[in-house]
Amino acid sequence: MENKDLGFMTAHEFLKKYSSQKKRITTGSKSVDQLLGGGIETGGITEIYGKYGTGKTQFVFQLCVNVQLPEKLGGLSSKAAFIDTEGTFNPLRIKQMSQALNLDPSVTLRNIYYKKALSLDDQKKATNNLKELVERENVKLIVIDSLINYFRSEFHGRKDLFRRQQELKKHLHVLNRLSLTENVAVVVTNHVMDIPDNLFEKEAVATGGHILAHTPISILHIRKAGNTKRIIKLVDNPYLPVGEAAFIITQEGIRDIPY
Ligand SMILES: Nc1ncnc2c1ncn2[C@@H]1O[C@H](COP(=O)(O)OP(=O)(O)OP(=O)(O)O)[C@@H](O)[C@H]1O
Ligand SMILES: [Mg+2]
Repeated sequence: MENKDLGFMTAHEFLKKYSSQKKRITTGSKSVDQLLGGGIETGGITEIYGKYGTGKTQFVFQLCVNVQLPEKLGGLSSKAAFIDTEGTFNPLRIKQMSQALNLDPSVTLRNIYYKKALSLDDQKKATNNLKELVERENVKLIVIDSLINYFRSEFHGRKDLFRRQQELKKHLHVLNRLSLTENVAVVVTNHVMDIPDNLFEKEAVATGGHILAHTPISILHIRKAGNTKRIIKLVDNPYLPVGEAAFIITQEGIRDIPY
């Protein structure tokens, strides 16, 4: 106790403080929730990467609906903010998911703050406005779909790589800070082409250092395993074991595979 004035707390105090703060948002699938220790966590960044059509956008739409559910149903009775860099935001699909949970779609849609970013500059401005939005409204989920689209298109070639990494690092820093100070869940999506890779390994190796690896982040990879079936892999997490779970994408949204 007497060391508090020196700025220290005990690990026991730390556990009490942070474990009571950390909340989780259900993904819609019990298997996936279990893999993630209960769902997508607040107070951190989660990256979801995978090839086109694997369901990254469906997954984040589902989270935007689920965060609004009461805690006993796996939500946080809160709102979402969505930064769209690809123009694939689809309120009608969200309406469908909302109806499947017997929520009033007009309320669900009013609880999602949407920003279409047309450039990296737009994306950065929107990100800088998030803090005020989160403080004004009861936002507990922030989505960027996708995170590095404009970083890829606006920085060309090897000579720009260093600057791109620096910018990306700054961007992630803003998001990470926000997730910690406001205790919100930040979920970002990322494309891959043919080989499985992720933001860190590929990009960091390219710059010859692990500059991005210092952002604590949970990394998820989704791959197709049939028309509707998907496998999600927990690739990296600061404290959970790696593993896999399966889910399906239905008209209702993200669900467990019925047995
Ligand atoms: N209403 C729906 N009912 C059932 N499945 C749907 C519905 N809408 C979309 N899907 C499924 O979701 C998949 C598309 O997922 P999504 O758009 O989330 O992919 P993505 O990973 O975001 O792709 P990209 O990298 O191109 O952005 C399609 O394969 C489609 O089968
Ligand atoms: Mg998408």
